[in-house]
Amino acid sequence: MTTQRPPGPQGNFLLGTLRDFGADQPNYLLQLAKTYGDITYFKLAQFHVYLLANSDYIREVLVTQADTFEKAPLDKKILSKFLGNGLLTSEGSFHARQRRLAQPAFHTKRIRTYADVMVDYTEHLLEAWQPGQTHDVAEEMMRLTMYIVSKTLFDADAVTETGDTAVIVGQAIHDLQTASNNDYRRGFPLPDWLPTSDNRKRNRAVGLYSHTIDQIIGERRATAVDGPIQDTGDLLSMLMLAQDEDGSYMNDRQLRDEVATLFAAGHETTSNALSWTWYLLAQHPEAEAKLHAELDTVLDGRTPTLDDLPSLPYALQVIKEAMRLYPPAWILNGRVAVADTHIGGYPMPKGSTIFIAPYVMHRLPQHFPDPERFLPERWTPEMEKALPKYAYMPFGGGPRVCIGNAFAMMEAHLILATIAQHYRLRLVPGTTVTPKSQITMSPEGGLPMVVEARSVMPVAAMNGAIHQTAVV
Ligand code: HEM
Repeated sequence: MTTQRPPGPQGNFLLGTLRDFGADQPNYLLQLAKTYGDITYFKLAQFHVYLLANSDYIREVLVTQADTFEKAPLDKKILSKFLGNGLLTSEGSFHARQRRLAQPAFHTKRIRTYADVMVDYTEHLLEAWQPGQTHDVAEEMMRLTMYIVSKTLFDADAVTETGDTAVIVGQAIHDLQTASNNDYRRGFPLPDWLPTSDNRKRNRAVGLYSHTIDQIIGERRATAVDGPIQDTGDLLSMLMLAQDEDGSYMNDRQLRDEVATLFAAGHETTSNALSWTWYLLAQHPEAEAKLHAELDTVLDGRTPTLDDLPSLPYALQVIKEAMRLYPPAWILNGRVAVADTHIGGYPMPKGSTIFIAPYVMHRLPQHFPDPERFLPERWTPEMEKALPKYAYMPFGGGPRVCIGNAFAMMEAHLILATIAQHYRLRLVPGTTVTPKSQITMSPEGGLPMVVEARSVMPVAAMNGAIHQTAVV
């Protein structure tokens, strides 16, 4: 135990390291970890920040001392403007109750029922693709995952008349995310009463999605006058049917906040994971060839199903490696110590801010030799067994680990297999891709890619002959 602060950069008297941090946040933090080691202390404006780059210290904050750390007030203030008091932003016993009630909706048995939706929607997207066309693949992945979350969350079907619902909620959440990203860039949220364009957009968007979600919840309640609501197979049904030990259910406001949270947290992240996967595959033809060989051997042109996934281990390795290099949640929400404590032998006074960044952990050479290299082959079962628990953490950890972890991995695995079976994606020549690090890490300016047909017949050419499903 020491009474000293951990090592770190001096920074400017007033702003601390704000300017250096702002220029390239993920790589600035990575540089700090490489320079100062397991724990770095620095000042960001008025905040006393500790960056953790040691998996045991991370376990301390997320698991062992989880009760001593809350999400940072700044994060909660910005995010709750559109997520209300949902799972991502709530705290303490309320969070624990909501998590308990929401958990059954994410049990393996339930989410397995969504596999067909994921594949059907992907094939529907492919029907609009023609070999030789250029698409913004980041935008396409975003739309695809948004439709999937709309269908699985509240049964809004993207290609029927209820598709409008998905689009309305999607656009509203997108506007809210943009306003929140602006708050983060500024370093503080704007007071609600200021008549700025962001605030106006935010109010309109909250009104729109609240109305839409409330309407869906109201319709469900209306069909259940004499008993429990019907389980229509989506996540919302499960949330509405979930009953706590004291016999209580979620009320409409709680349901709305959880639906908005699941919608927002549940599609942009997965979409970014996929975009980075396509980008990396295009840069690494040898890995791509290996993926294609696996798909051709196992599927032989057949549409993938959930049961095929265990036979497609290389595809999974590709996704894990893409999420290592470009974790969509590149930094967890900040944590703040609510009481004096110690981490790694260093005193951590009440009010200290903790940064835990998957981007940093995933690029430490002690855990990932040759860390900058895209190497799906590194993900052997032996390597995974030897890897310390929080050295790889795209989904966070502890009691606030991502509730949609298994859902997202299944979705990414199925989408990758379905598309890569038919198409090879190539960056438009001359395109430079750089990460944009906001709430999530996405390719700045999108991902313009040319669609090249593989030898397996593309879905568009089949003209729906083998695939007449509900979404067509
Ligand atoms: C590749 C895709 C995804 C990634 C990388 C990801 C990442 C994360 C991370 C890192 C956290 C923890 C945040 C923190 O501790 O500060 C988190 C929390 C959360 N995620 Fe995900 N997520 C993904 C997909 C999903 C999906 C598909 C859903 C739902 C359908 C979802 C819903 C949530 C929720 C509700 C929380 C808050 C959990 C709590 O605090 O109890 N996520 N996610």
